[in-house]
Amino acid sequence: MRVFQNLSAATIAALLGHTLAVPIVVHPGGVNDVVITSQDTLNETLSNQGPNQSATPLSASDAEQLSVSVYNNFDSDSVNVYITGLDSDGNIVCLTSSGTWYTPTANTSTTTPQEITDDIAIPIGAYGTTTSFTLPSYFSSGRVWVADGELTFWTVIASTGVLSLVEPSAVNPDDPSASTNWGFVELTTDSSGITINLSYVDFVGLPLGIEVQGSDGTQSVLGVSVDAISSICTDLATQAASDGQPWNELCMTDTSGNALRVIAPYDYISLEPDAFDTYWTSYVADVWSQYETTPLTIDTQAAAGLVNCTVTSGTLNCAGDNRGYAQPVASDIFGCNSGPFAIESGDNDVHLAVVPRLCAAFDRSTFLVSGGNVQPSLDSSSYYTTTPTNYYSKIVHQYESDGKGYAFAYDDVTPDGGPNASGLLNDPNPTLLTITVGGPTS
Ligand SMILES: *[C@@H]1O[C@H](CO)[C@@H](O)[C@H](O)[C@H]1NC(C)=O
Ligand SMILES: *[C@@H]1O[C@H](CO)[C@@H](O)[C@H](O)[C@H]1NC(C)=O
Ligand SMILES: *[C@@H]1O[C@H](CO)[C@@H](O)[C@H](O)[C@H]1NC(C)=O
Ligand SMILES: *[C@@H]1O[C@H](CO)[C@@H](O)[C@H](O)[C@H]1NC(C)=O
Ligand SMILES: *[C@@H]1O[C@H](CO)[C@@H](O)[C@H](O)[C@H]1NC(C)=O
Ligand SMILES: *[C@@H]1O[C@H](CO)[C@@H](O)[C@H](O)[C@H]1NC(C)=O
Repeated sequence: MRVFQNLSAATIAALLGHTLAVPIVVHPGGVNDVVITSQDTLNETLSNQGPNQSATPLSASDAEQLSVSVYNNFDSDSVNVYITGLDSDGNIVCLTSSGTWYTPTANTSTTTPQEITDDIAIPIGAYGTTTSFTLPSYFSSGRVWVADGELTFWTVIASTGVLSLVEPSAVNPDDPSASTNWGFVELTTDSSGITINLSYVDFVGLPLGIEVQGSDGTQSVLGVSVDAISSICTDLATQAASDGQPWNELCMTDTSGNALRVIAPYDYISLEPDAFDTYWTSYVADVWSQYETTPLTIDTQAAAGLVNCTVTSGTLNCAGDNRGYAQPVASDIFGCNSGPFAIESGDNDVHLAVVPRLCAAFDRSTFLVSGGNVQPSLDSSSYYTTTPTNYYSKIVHQYESDGKGYAFAYDDVTPDGGPNASGLLNDPNPTLLTITVGGPTS
């Protein structure tokens, strides 16, 4: 087994000696292929437990409980749901099919991840049926995982005093669950209600939709249609044939060629560090050159109002911003969290407003189009209209039934009054969460 603690995914890929096929064909492995990253772990401090002991899950009042219905609109009789999160004491909890929290533990004498063999799968009824259960208490950093088949979860005490739940990875083609078609939604429930998030920032997998009923009425995010994955893969292959970039390799298939999921370019670069490396270079140079002579106006949509930015000696500087911006590279643009887009402690409100608006304008390629000198200001019909652009985001949005669900980290940037692409729902008093598996019902 290889435990890669907090190494960059690029380093992990190098250690694994990956040679990636086109598109990526998954090869599910065993414990030796489990990769530990911050994206796919949930950590518990073991301070309130002795070694090898399970925490006692909290008993909760009715007010903390939430009814969940899962509607199976996917033509499969082997759909399973897994629910993972942290209870209000910070203990890792998984819901069992009997409706109670299971608290996993780990063997303290080994740093090898151990598969959870206790039954934490909740079987979902056949195509066309609804299965209901109740979340027993508030929980945070939660995920509802939905799989056509089974997923494998692991526990490990990877550093002293910390128990990690190691979850399936969408990005690792050798993950033990890699050949299963799965997806998740992220949620937290607490005294301020429910926050639930359907997102394609890292990948598009098994199509899921969410609906929350509560004191704010009924709200939904419909998600992508059931055949979206194969359509997205086809469109990405067409784009790759036209510009020679590895868009088609964002698609992961099983060994029979069935498309399973599509990973975001940022995550693909974590496997193949040289991918897209010069894709944005001349566009970035053109943008920088434009703003040497003409100001770029960022609408902070906050107290600072409109701020002008200009390029001097290769750095973009904005009025009132605590620091400037160097030219971004491809991974910075796709990920929005590195290079000039990395947020540092001490960054002021102007900086915190400029980063998302700059990065969104790159991903949507809206700088050099008419009206693009004010960001954000353009209608979504101007997004993704020039090359280079983030074709993953462009194409994923085309298959969202209601235009909702982030396809890159700052996809909620929009001019005042514009449509909000966020797949996030909040309700202060939720009464029912419904998850639809297999795309919208109509
Ligand atoms: C959990 O702990 C592991 C091992 O210490 C670490 O690599 C991982 O990043 C942590 N996960 C989170 C979400 O912080
Ligand atoms: C924890 O489990 C390991 C392996 O079974 C065992 O060697 C160790 O003695 C246990 N520790 C305690 C405190 O029970
Ligand atoms: C814990 O791990 C040690 C070392 O690998 C092993 O010898 C032991 O059998 C394990 N104990 C349990 C309860 O799995
Ligand atoms: C929604 O999910 C995306 C991707 O997982 C994440 O980047 C974002 O922070 C989440 N938003 C909230 C409010 O949880
Ligand atoms: C920002 O630049 C625009 C375009 O040149 C100009 O009209 C505006 O007055 C500038 N705003 C400030 C605050 O300098
Ligand atoms: C978009 O909607 C989400 C969820 O309601 C909200 O958190 C976010 O602030 C909104 N974004 C904008 C730019 O209005």
